[in-house]
Amino acid sequence: MKITVVGAGYVGLVTGACLAEMGNHVVCLDVDERKIAMLQRGEIPIHEPGLDAVVQRNAAAGRLQFTTDVASAVGHGTLQFIGVGTPPDEDGSADLQYVLAAARNIGRHMTDYKVIVDKSTVPVGTADKVRAAVREELAARGLSMDYAVVSNPEFLKEGAAVDDFMRPDRVVVGSDDERATLLMRAVYAPFMRNHDKLIVMDVRSAEFTKYAANAMLATRISFMNELALLAERVGADIELVRKGIGSDPRIGTHFLYAGAGYGGSCFPKDVKALIHIGADNGVPLQVLNAVEAANERQKHVLVERVVARFGEDLTGRTLAVWGLAFKPNTDDMREAPSRVVIAELVKRGAKIRAYDPVAMHEAQRVLEGVPGVTFVTGQQAALEGADALLIVTEWKEFRNPDFEFIKATLKQPVVFDGRNLYEPALMKAFGIEYLAIGRAAAL
Ligand code: NAD
Ligand code: UGA
Repeated sequence: MKITVVGAGYVGLVTGACLAEMGNHVVCLDVDERKIAMLQRGEIPIHEPGLDAVVQRNAAAGRLQFTTDVASAVGHGTLQFIGVGTPPDEDGSADLQYVLAAARNIGRHMTDYKVIVDKSTVPVGTADKVRAAVREELAARGLSMDYAVVSNPEFLKEGAAVDDFMRPDRVVVGSDDERATLLMRAVYAPFMRNHDKLIVMDVRSAEFTKYAANAMLATRISFMNELALLAERVGADIELVRKGIGSDPRIGTHFLYAGAGYGGSCFPKDVKALIHIGADNGVPLQVLNAVEAANERQKHVLVERVVARFGEDLTGRTLAVWGLAFKPNTDDMREAPSRVVIAELVKRGAKIRAYDPVAMHEAQRVLEGVPGVTFVTGQQAALEGADALLIVTEWKEFRNPDFEFIKATLKQPVVFDGRNLYEPALMKAFGIEYLAIGRAAAL
C-alpha cells in the first residue's frame, strides 16, 4: 500500500518505519529540514532501540523515503497518517495548530481519495475539525472530493516503541467510513496474524480512549507514589506492598512502581488536556486534578530528602545525579523529573555532577544556562568530589554498581534513590546510608 506519514518524530518515524517493514511504500514528511536531511543520510534523530536497523533496511530497499516536499508527499499515499505534536497550550488544552496545518496541506494538494488517519493524541471532536479544514481547502480549489477521517491513537512507549508497534496489545480504529475501515484492517493485519487485536469504534470514542488510557496509567503511578510516602511513615515497605497487591489480577503487576514522579512528553500533557476537557464540559475531573498535584509534589521528594539530610542551604555541597532522561532507553528530556530535581538543588546553592548513559547531549541542550552543572562521562566520574548520590532514572547499568567504590568515593556515603533500585539491607551491609521511596529504611 502507499502510505504518507506526516511528522517524523517519535510516533511518525516509528509508524513509517514499521509500516515499511511490512512491505508498504512509505513517505515521511516533516517541516524540520535538519531532521529530514539526517534521515535521508540514514541517521536517526532520536535514541530508540532497534529503530535504526528498521529505518536503514527499509530506506535501502526503497520502501521508506523522507521529504519536506508537501505536494509530492500528499500525492503519494492513499493513507495519510498524521503524527505531529499536540503540545499543551498555555491553559493546558491541546494545541491543535500542527494537526490542522497538516490537514490543510492534505486538502491543498490531494487529487484523489484519501484516508486521513489521526495518530496524534487529540481531544474529542478533532476529527470533525480535520474534516472541515480539508473541506475548506478543497472548496478553495473549487473541488469536492471523497475522503475519510479516521482516529487511530498510538499507544507505544518510548524506549520500547518499535516492539510496541510491531506487537501491539490492541489497535484502536475510530471510523464511520466502511472503505476506510477496510483499508485500516488491511494495513494492520500483518501486525496481528495470530489474534485480531483491532478494535473498531466510532471516531469520538477512539479519540477519548487515548486520553483515558494515559490518565488511567498516570493515576496508578500517582496513587502508588502517595501510598509510598505513607508506607514510610507507618513503617511499611512499598516494594513488598506492590508485590502484595499486584498479584491480584484485577490490579495487575505493571505500572505500580513508586518513584520520583512521572515525566515525558505525554502523561503530563495528556493529564492536563483531559482536566481541561472535563472543566470545559462541566465535569470537573477531581481524581485527575489530584493525580497531577501528587505528581508535582513527587518530583520534589528527592530534594526534600536532601534538604532534610544536609539542610536548606546547599552551598558548598556537590551532588552526583545518575539518570537524566525521563525514563530509561530514551534520550528524551521532555518533562523529565531530573530537570526539577537539578533546578531545585542548584537553587539552594548545590553543584551538580550529572550523568546519563544516552541523554547527555539532550540534557546539555535543555539544561543550558543552569549554573553549577557539570556533565561527566561515566557513573563513577559523577561520584568524584560529590557529597552524596541521587538516582533519578533507572537505567540498567545503575542496577548493580560498584558499591565499594560508591562508599569510598562519596564524601558522605548517602544514596537518595528515586527509583528503588537496591535492597536497603544490602546498602546497610555496605555501610551506605540509603534513602529510597516508600521503604521503611528511608526514614
Ligand atoms: P515529536 O515532537 O517527536 O514529533 C512531531 C514532528 O512533527 C516533529 O518532527 C515536527 O517537526 C513535525 N511537524 C510539525 N508540524 C508539521 C507539519 N505541519 N507537517 C509535517 N511535520 C510537522 O512528537 P511525538 O512525540 O512523535 O508525538 C506526536 C503525537 O503523538 C503527539 O500528539 C503525542 O501526544 C502522540 N504520542 C506520542 C507518543 C510518544 O511516545 N512520544 C506516544 C503516543 C502518542
Ligand atoms: C506513555 C504510555 O505508557 C504509552 O502507552 C503512551 O502511548 C505514551 O505515554 C504516549 O501517549 O505518549 P511513555 O511516556 O513513553 O509512554 O513512557 P512510560 O513508560 O509510560 O513512562 C512514563 C513515566 O511514568 C516515566 O517518567 C516513568 O518513569 C513513569 N513511571 C512509569 C513510573 O513512575 N512508575 C511506573 O510504574 C511506570
